[in-house]
Amino acid sequence: MFASLYPLIKPCLFSLDAERAHEWTLSALAGNPSLIGKAMGNKSPTAAELSGELFGLKIKSPVGLAAGLDKNGVAISFWPHLGFGFVEVGTVTAIPQEGNPKPRLFRLKKDQALINRMGFNNHGSEALATEMRRIKAADQWPSTPIGANVGKSKVTPLEEAAGDYATSIERLQGLADYFTINVSSPNTPGLRELQRPDALKAILNASLEAAKDTPVAVKIAPDLEPEMVNSIVDLVCEAGVSGIIATNTTIKRDNLTRDPDETGGLSGRPIWPHSKAIIQRVLDATDGRIPVIGCGGVDSGERAAELLQMGCTAVQLYTALIYKGPNLPSQINRTLATQA
Ligand code: FNR
Repeated sequence: MFASLYPLIKPCLFSLDAERAHEWTLSALAGNPSLIGKAMGNKSPTAAELSGELFGLKIKSPVGLAAGLDKNGVAISFWPHLGFGFVEVGTVTAIPQEGNPKPRLFRLKKDQALINRMGFNNHGSEALATEMRRIKAADQWPSTPIGANVGKSKVTPLEEAAGDYATSIERLQGLADYFTINVSSPNTPGLRELQRPDALKAILNASLEAAKDTPVAVKIAPDLEPEMVNSIVDLVCEAGVSGIIATNTTIKRDNLTRDPDETGGLSGRPIWPHSKAIIQRVLDATDGRIPVIGCGGVDSGERAAELLQMGCTAVQLYTALIYKGPNLPSQINRTLATQA
């Protein structure tokens, strides 16, 4: 019921500064995520055609919430009620951090896009572990798989990145259903350098050891050269990683009605042609060895269906949820179910 009020609520939220609206929404949800989810009219997917497996985990829909929206996992038990088949919280870092100075989140309304340079503002992996333990103890842990996306703390030197990722994973091991290694945010200086083979190998080895039998995925940037995509995919497959998420936000500024004068990662509707091309490249390079989750500009059932038809095992979205509202995941599920 409340979900159908979004067209009325949206102008109020959009009249606030973008980060304020985000904080306001999350703090409202954090009050009683499970109850609010039920009150919104549970949209958990039920169509048998949509259910499947991701990294060996059962999912009721291939449509997931991308990382960055619920960095600290405050609404873990809420998101599945919207129809998401899996949810990724984080990015969290080993050391809690404030992120970049504000303002750092910008709406490009005409383009249905966002630019962010948040810089991994988060309460840290220890706090996320505590929150996850609390939810489990309260018997509110959803049956929907919950992934934890981990990144490097800003103060940790790049050479010590492997230990930083492993620390967060050790804290969250046995709590999260899968991990995502984030080496692709444009907003932590040098982070994307960690996609280079030597650095990535060390991070993957340390992370896989810390994760024990929990699946580990790697999230890559859309701005990689084609040869780099091929070498990352080979490295990732050989290391024993369970999947690739393609992609994070882009530093490119294509397909915009005006050139915004803000640095940061671009997401949402305009990045679709670019992300689709990179996703296709990743699919070609993996050649079925490991699952690929397609992410970037997914805002409709048609776009989600296109990525699945290309060979993605699942899709994720973030920005379209802000523009189209909480009914979007279940609308996408309906479209996918009719096409199945
Ligand atoms: C993000 N994204 C992101 N990704 C990630 O791995 N860790 C993070 O902390 C964040 N933070 C974040 C904040 C904001 C404000 C946005 C808009 C995005 C990237 C996100 O998960 C996704 O990969 C991209 O946004 C592309 O998908 P959409 O938004 O076009 O569906």
